[in-house]
Amino acid sequence: VILTQDELKKIAAYKAVEFVESGMVLGLGTGSTAKHAVDRIGELLRQGKLTNIIGIPTSKKTQEQAISLGIPLSDLDSHPTIDMAIDGADEVDPHLNLVKGRGGSLLREKMVEGACKKFVCIVDESKLVKYLGGSGLAMPVEVVPFCWKFTAKKLQNLFRDSGCVAKLRNDCKGEPFVTDNGNYIVDLYLKKDIGDLQVASDAILRIAGVVEHGMFLAMATTVIVAGELGITIKNK
Ligand code: A5P
Repeated sequence: VILTQDELKKIAAYKAVEFVESGMVLGLGTGSTAKHAVDRIGELLRQGKLTNIIGIPTSKKTQEQAISLGIPLSDLDSHPTIDMAIDGADEVDPHLNLVKGRGGSLLREKMVEGACKKFVCIVDESKLVKYLGGSGLAMPVEVVPFCWKFTAKKLQNLFRDSGCVAKLRNDCKGEPFVTDNGNYIVDLYLKKDIGDLQVASDAILRIAGVVEHGMFLAMATTVIVAGELGITIKNK
């Protein structure tokens, strides 16, 4: 049997939900993989197999999904310590560093997942890369709309040795994509790896106009990978 990518996402998501216990405060991720986990949590609550869960959504979209499933919700102000978060990723490197934010929710994801005792990342095997940026897809950076071209140019220059091209993300109507926080996303396309990730992270965050970037360094405590040959669980 050949499984579709969506079936693999669902397998990883359901596996992660096995680690959820009644009474937990749970970070609820965003994206097509995390959506399966949120659905499953809703189902187990409905069946009475989980009780007393409080969800902390990482986007407006996940908030709406959780409300529709009847999952009780709160936020970081009321629950600054979260037991566990479950979320997808766009890329996972061999050290469990991640790229996130192709769905545009990287800022709230980073705030919530940074406040978690455990962050379980769920992916299908297509997300595994040798180095961050290695999929050839974008490395997202959330920027303030004010003079975004100026910020994008600075980002492109920062990684010019890696052949970086910075592009403003557009929505389906060709207008700038606007995040849940009212910001824009500049996507960085890289031809080579950017070297020391912590140095790169610090350099990006030093640019005025940058709000946050999509590299999640040493944040995932567990990565669950679903592949054709089964599930692999990697721990930090
Ligand atoms: C949302 O901003 C992203 O960080 C997603 O979590 C990530 O892009 C994974 O999405 P998929 O599960 O849809 O691939």
